[in-house]
Amino acid sequence: MRKFAAFAAAELAPGEMRKLALPDERAIAIYNVAGKFYATDDLCTHGEVSLTEEGVLNGHIIECSWHFGSFDVTTGKVMTTPCNRDLPTYPVCEIDGVLHVEA
Ligand code: FES
Repeated sequence: MRKFAAFAAAELAPGEMRKLALPDERAIAIYNVAGKFYATDDLCTHGEVSLTEEGVLNGHIIECSWHFGSFDVTTGKVMTTPCNRDLPTYPVCEIDGVLHVEA
């Protein structure tokens, strides 16, 4: 795993999420849940849908708007079918005000 600098923590308010494109073309979703930061794969495991573009973050639950499957962004666990595979999660840390993701 490598550590990637994302963006300033202050740019992501509580309740917001943002996509981070990695150099190897993977995309990570970073979430601010009540002041704590979490990261998962950006693609829904049910389809090739960007959760940051098509999903709705409600507390710690991201719901995919395509078929309304949902995940807990703090653990990656599936909360609602039709999704049946958990989202991979990644450690996030803040260094000098900048979020970094290990992916
Ligand atoms: S593509 Fe996300 S729930 Fe179906």
